[in-house]
Amino acid sequence: MKVRKAVIPAAGWGTRFLPITKSVPKEILPLVDKPIIQYAVEECAACGIELIIIITSQGKAAIEDYFDKSVGLEHILEQRGKEDLLAKISHLSNLPNICFVHQKELLGLGHAVLSSKDVVGKEPFVVILPDDLFEQRELVLKEMLNTFEQYNGSVVALKKVEPDEISRYGIIKPKKVAKNVYQIMDFVEKPEPSQAPSNLAIMGRYVLTPEIFEELESTDFGVGGEIQITDGLKRLLRKQAIFGYEIEGDYYDAGTILGWIKATMAMGLKHPEIGPELKDYLSHLVRGKV
Ligand code: UTP
Repeated sequence: MKVRKAVIPAAGWGTRFLPITKSVPKEILPLVDKPIIQYAVEECAACGIELIIIITSQGKAAIEDYFDKSVGLEHILEQRGKEDLLAKISHLSNLPNICFVHQKELLGLGHAVLSSKDVVGKEPFVVILPDDLFEQRELVLKEMLNTFEQYNGSVVALKKVEPDEISRYGIIKPKKVAKNVYQIMDFVEKPEPSQAPSNLAIMGRYVLTPEIFEELESTDFGVGGEIQITDGLKRLLRKQAIFGYEIEGDYYDAGTILGWIKATMAMGLKHPEIGPELKDYLSHLVRGKV
């Protein structure tokens, strides 16, 4: 069955990025010249997703405004003959349809996904956490959708992490079934490295069967008093096989200050207009300080 819908949870408090997130949603912070969430939306567009469901909350109106058509601004740019600038914003009108669902209480990622139940309905869907950015992001989602089709089960993105990072992630017990593909035998939330069944951590991309909703509905509040998606997946695993797709290439957690700065640098260096000058500036800066 073709996967047509994607859910982008963007309702969280963003406490790791305070104080800016007190009034600016972290999803709207820029990575070079686009807000973080636009990369997730473009990833969906590149993979043929037809409807994007963004989960928002109070104080996140800037996200809705950003994806709205700005008739006045487009008109002014047209009048002034600024075709290049016009192209930068009119491109937003060609993205897949976007709708917004409000998560009324911030009860965790699992709860955010559950908020999309009525809009997703009884079909498989993608979940993208916009803070998690991959160097090869369009390829990652395409490969995950292929894996979903081939194995006929939910697929989560995986990445090998260093031993000292293990206790920050959900970790899986893997059974390798093909290159980069594992059947998941168990999920362990934030284990001590010595107790971890592998170093394969769950990253923010999921292709899920709609049965996850039933499981999330009966999932109790877990770590931090939140409904954790990993707990829902653990329950789903009792009924359906779940697979993992191992990602290669760089990964950035743009939901932390350092991760966001690293992503900004990496993307800035690749940018055709500013990349070469930024490279010179960074090497000058580093040479000056060491
Ligand atoms: P995070 O774990 O990054 O939480 O959530 P957060 O609140 O955004 O940030 P910190 O940890 O306080 O700094 C992962 C994703 O799930 C969304 C977030 O917006 C983010 O995209 N989320 C989280 C929700 O939509 N609702 C929630 O209740 C929690």
